[in-house]
Amino acid sequence: MANVVVVGAQWGDEGKGKIVDWLSERADVIARFQGGHNAGHTLVIGGKVFKLSLLPSGIVRAGKLAVIGNGVVLDPWALFTEIDKLAAQGVAISTDNLMIAENTPLILPLHQDLDKLREDAAGKAKIGTTGRGIGPAYEDKVGRRVIRVADLADRDTLEARLDRLLAHHDALRQGLGATPIDRAELTEKLLEIAPKLLPYAAPVWKVLGEMRRAGKRILFEGAQGSLLDIDFGTYPYVTSSTTMSGMAATGTGLGPSAIGFVLGIVKAYTTRVGEGPFPTELLDEDGQRLGERGHEFGTVTGRKRRCGWFDAVLVRQTCAISGVNGIALTKLDVLDGFKTLKICVGYEIDGVRYDYLPTAAALQARVVPIYEEMDGWSESTQGARSWAELPAAAIKYVRRIEELIQCPVAMLSTSPERDDTILVTDPFAD
Ligand code: GDP
Ligand code: IMO
Ligand code: MG
Repeated sequence: MANVVVVGAQWGDEGKGKIVDWLSERADVIARFQGGHNAGHTLVIGGKVFKLSLLPSGIVRAGKLAVIGNGVVLDPWALFTEIDKLAAQGVAISTDNLMIAENTPLILPLHQDLDKLREDAAGKAKIGTTGRGIGPAYEDKVGRRVIRVADLADRDTLEARLDRLLAHHDALRQGLGATPIDRAELTEKLLEIAPKLLPYAAPVWKVLGEMRRAGKRILFEGAQGSLLDIDFGTYPYVTSSTTMSGMAATGTGLGPSAIGFVLGIVKAYTTRVGEGPFPTELLDEDGQRLGERGHEFGTVTGRKRRCGWFDAVLVRQTCAISGVNGIALTKLDVLDGFKTLKICVGYEIDGVRYDYLPTAAALQARVVPIYEEMDGWSESTQGARSWAELPAAAIKYVRRIEELIQCPVAMLSTSPERDDTILVTDPFAD
């Protein structure tokens, strides 16, 4: 039985939430394996809009198990705010349909403080983070001083963890001109949330392993995008987690052999939020038009997303690194009405041609995209549910993308609505 990993193949916001929601009908378990509430995944189901940050997108379907894996960084207060928001929309969440890995690191208010203090101190050199404390929490995890879900069950353990954590943070805060942490207040806050959070805690690696052996289908939901990956993204303008497919295994506790099909989610053009290089960025009317037609505003921070032409060089690169078997191409409808479309097919840097994005920041800053022009289409593709409904020029555009990125299209999306989706190859098929 194939399990499917969904990863963003660009800079995030490719439409992962919509595709995961659609695919979750075919899955038994939907598991997040990295990131935190920096993610913003929008689902539109029969006109009703659901915005998810921390909860797996499969949570909206009854009878499915949603899992938060150990690769995630979890803000427990943000979690319960989201659970309450969804409850108000009619989605019931309990220990029957949500499980959290007991070794998941927690994001605390001090992580958000540090995220903001650092961004403010960086001035023009800021990353443009979501301010959710993601980077500082991952740093503490790797620094072996983070508090994890299971630590909340025992006061002595918690106190010992806090000793180590606060010694580090108080020194940092002093350097940044901030007040020391109020330890008593933080301890109280943690002891207060503990009885709410702990019932969800479980050895996810074991439960998922058993489900896998019982033939259940697992859908792994990635957040962010491959170009925000800590190793392979446009460093340092990245997030602090591994956003590539391999993380699905270590971020939940299943071996890589559990992964059957890697589905890369790809927007039919390119966007990015925050700072950092963006070779095909458009600062002209075309960019504005993409932003308006695509409603390109961040779900989490409300920031305007930067927009540009499709960059086949980058997507070929990320598909290779994540071992993508097929892509879901989203937001094709946003391109309706463009007379001409451009696709980036290579780069030129100081007169030298590149078929990939080199790592050196100095080279990235001098990238000149090489474009291929294609005819646009005047017909509407919005809401198309079969190939037959697509104009010839749109099909040509999709086929050219497949050729350039060396990866087939498994799914197509033509509107935010769940069912405005074309299935070409079932990622769950054996
Ligand atoms: P994610 O972070 O990858 O889940 O993506 P977001 O939800 O942040 O951003 C994608 C946005 O595009 C959301 O508002 C979706 O409702 C919307 N969307 C998804 N697929 C399509 C599509 O095919 N066409 C259009 N027009 N909008 C889409
Ligand atoms: P989804 O899952 C787009 C970006 C931020 C910033 C950088 C680092 O909705 O695709 P962080 O707060 O993670 O330390 O910020 O990463 N970023 C995203 N951009 N979509 C996301 O998630 C993102 N999550 C983080 O804008 O540039
Ligand atoms: Mg998003």
